[in-house]
Amino acid sequence: MIIGSNIIQHEKVSSTNSVAATLCSDGNLPEGTVITAGWQEKGKGQQGNKWESEAGMNLLFSIILYPSAIKADEQFYILKVIALGVYDVLTALTSDVKIKWPNDIYVKDDKIAGILIENSVMGSSIKNSIAGIGINVNQERFLSDAPNPVSLRMITGKVFDTGVFLKDVCKAIDKRYAMLRSGDRARLTTDYKDALYRYCRWHSFKDHEGEFSGMIEDVTDSGLLVVRKKVGTIKEYAFKEIEYQQPATSNNEQLVIDN
Ligand code: BTN
Repeated sequence: MIIGSNIIQHEKVSSTNSVAATLCSDGNLPEGTVITAGWQEKGKGQQGNKWESEAGMNLLFSIILYPSAIKADEQFYILKVIALGVYDVLTALTSDVKIKWPNDIYVKDDKIAGILIENSVMGSSIKNSIAGIGINVNQERFLSDAPNPVSLRMITGKVFDTGVFLKDVCKAIDKRYAMLRSGDRARLTTDYKDALYRYCRWHSFKDHEGEFSGMIEDVTDSGLLVVRKKVGTIKEYAFKEIEYQQPATSNNEQLVIDN
């Protein structure tokens, strides 16, 4: 097992991704090293957002990878590996788990986990990759203006041991990483697509032209989302070029505060 063979535990950090980046630049940590924390002062989300997590309640960790099996322009495979590992472990605990392209993990229409991958690229190779993962485990109330957070506890009514759960997640990601290292890219691609939220069904989306009814048909090797519009055209979208229009109802009660 590579992922989680070395676990560095912190009570409080600024961000596990930042700690991992510093450790990477300081020296040679074994591949698969996990940096985990009970709380992050400056937890980083996608697009410069903050990642909310109540102290000690959830999983917040970063994995250091040296993915020599792939080139820089194939880096979307790292996301497939991580997203599928998280998907696998959650699917063993609850139903209706989906991967919302590109990097959110959903249960029904609510977000249970987020992934932030930061790659250090040198020429056509990836020097190292830091895969930051936040999974909402035991938190019951979310205070940020994130639209639809949910946790395992809210879904199952059970409290989870985050230490035990971390090991399960590492095992699941390790299995998926082994697929990448052994060259089983086809399996990762098929499973990623099969796990996609709103895959191959008509749904409401929004792009720069406005709202439309469309169907997700594919994800390209470089990670673009391929959507067929009901009017007949097929388009490829990069992250943030398309919005999913949410169903009107979400299961969660939410408190909205200003940051
Ligand atoms: C997202 O916006 O969905 C991505 C969230 C990623 C959060 C995790 S928590 C552990 C790691 N450290 C960070 O600062 N961010 C990631």
